[in-house]
Amino acid sequence: MSSIFTASLLQLTCFFLLLQTVFSAPQNFYSTCSGSENFTSSDPYATNLDELLRHLSYETAFKGFSLGSKGIDQYKAYGLALCYNYVSPANCKSCVGAASKEIVKLCPYSKGAALWYDKCTLKYSNKDFFGKIDYLGYIMCSHENASDPISFKIQKTEFLSQLANNASSIPRMQMTGVVELAGSHKLYGAAQCSRDLLSSDCKECLGRSINEDGCDVALGGRLASGSCNIRFETYNFFNA
Ligand SMILES: *[C@@H]1O[C@H](CO)[C@@H](O)[C@H](O)[C@H]1NC(C)=O
Ligand SMILES: *[C@@H]1O[C@H](CO)[C@@H](O)[C@H](O)[C@H]1NC(C)=O
Ligand SMILES: *[C@@H]1O[C@H](CO)[C@@H](O)[C@H](O)[C@H]1NC(C)=O
Repeated sequence: MSSIFTASLLQLTCFFLLLQTVFSAPQNFYSTCSGSENFTSSDPYATNLDELLRHLSYETAFKGFSLGSKGIDQYKAYGLALCYNYVSPANCKSCVGAASKEIVKLCPYSKGAALWYDKCTLKYSNKDFFGKIDYLGYIMCSHENASDPISFKIQKTEFLSQLANNASSIPRMQMTGVVELAGSHKLYGAAQCSRDLLSSDCKECLGRSINEDGCDVALGGRLASGSCNIRFETYNFFNA
């Protein structure tokens, strides 16, 4: 009797998890607080940060990217938000909306923080970081490896490098592409930089992610930093 109960409870749990993935709220993949300096609730930085986050989430919902600052002198807050280039406008809006609320809960009173959701990135600081490459971020790899690891890795690296070059050479600094791999599967890729970077820095940021690709022979991966991100999968993840 008790084992039947356990089984059905498990089934219910699985069903619930499935529902959660289908109608998914934005998922928090990684976050960091730069906790060396804190502010108090009466500090003008608190008001500036609040205004900045509202501004960023509003702007990003329309443009997929935004950069901004609020306040003056030591109370000035700098921020950046971007949605991944394969994300739909509706999901972009809900992602930045959720991220701007979550980031202040994760890092209360911290003068700097960054948050990576599955569909967007948000960061702020009291230091001017515009135009500087920020390599801090995360790597997530799929658990499935290529059956032909050597040729997969060569073809993947070649494809992602092309994608990175193409992305860095246009003003929007983002590109998606598909390649037919030997062995009849496809590889879908997306590469993107934060648009405050110079084209050469975009190329460097993406290039470093590709060269240090910790996903090695995994069939899918997400390599995201504060300045650039890459995703590749053997299935179509565009318009997520
Ligand atoms: C800032 O706040 C964090 C978390 O509350 C704390 O761990 C840290 O020591 C504080 N830093 C300073 C400089 O007060
Ligand atoms: C995939 O390959 C990596 C090394 O490249 C290895 O550590 C890992 O165990 C492999 N995973 C599977 C599921 O075979
Ligand atoms: C990169 O751009 C070139 C030239 O437009 C194009 O031929 C190539 O297919 C592109 N590759 C990728 C992966 O975007």
